[in-house]
Amino acid sequence: MDWAIEVRDLTKKFDRYTAVDRLSFKVPAGKIFGFLGPNGSGKSTTIRMLCGIMRPTSGAGTVTGHDITADPEKIKQNIGYMSQKFSLYEDLTVEENLSFFGGIYGLKKQELAQRLEEVLETALLGTKRKALAGILSGGWKQRLALGCAIIHRPQLLILDEPTAGVDPVSRRVFWDILRELASLGFTILVTTHYMDEAEQCDLVAIMYQGVLEGFGSPAELKQEWQVNSLENVFIAMVERHRSLSEEVKV
Ligand SMILES: Nc1ncnc2c1ncn2[C@@H]1O[C@H](COP(=O)(O)OP(=O)(O)O)[C@@H](O)[C@H]1O
Ligand SMILES: [Mg+2]
Repeated sequence: MDWAIEVRDLTKKFDRYTAVDRLSFKVPAGKIFGFLGPNGSGKSTTIRMLCGIMRPTSGAGTVTGHDITADPEKIKQNIGYMSQKFSLYEDLTVEENLSFFGGIYGLKKQELAQRLEEVLETALLGTKRKALAGILSGGWKQRLALGCAIIHRPQLLILDEPTAGVDPVSRRVFWDILRELASLGFTILVTTHYMDEAEQCDLVAIMYQGVLEGFGSPAELKQEWQVNSLENVFIAMVERHRSLSEEVKV
């Protein structure tokens, strides 16, 4: 099996606070992997370690086959990352933004020109290629940020809450694009608070207070928790924790 992500006992501590606690899982290549959990559960911290931006306190992992502590630079070439607070150059046009990011990844002129056309088409940006990024609405900005993250054709795309605060129609368009990318062979890690999006993932992980509480396909998780939706899996998991911590207090 070709694993896009493999982590074993991955842990991150900030002083005495454990933000990510002995996380272990594997994600096969070519899948859409939903990384879920309430705010503060350690998703972004895990992502930073996977991208090679932050060193784990302990544990190990590989991303696109490269070791996250020994080879972070190789990982950066193989992934596309869209952070929770992505940045675009607002005074550059759509195609200038894409060219700029392509340049950072070392694409040569001819390859860049070809990728530019492909990305404009895939991310549905063609009609606004000459528009300044600064005047685009939220959904368009999101798609442009996605385009910038895939311009170098990364094996793995990591999207941290890409659709937060975007209207439902734009979210649907965005997910149509993600499914298209997965069908082209990209592996996608995506965090979201929207359970309709989580239902569309091939594989889902649910984090709670730094700990991996659930892992499997949406169907497997619903079966395991005996509920009819991922939203109910999520709520049941949080409520179980609340009641456990109430017991401790009593
Ligand atoms: N650089 C940091 N220094 C100290 N604490 C941090 C830092 N980054 C994140 N944390 C803490 O770690 C926990 C997990 O944060 P984060 O990974 O951002 O969660 P999520 O993305 O799931 O909302 C939070 O309690 C957060 O305050
Ligand atoms: Mg986060």
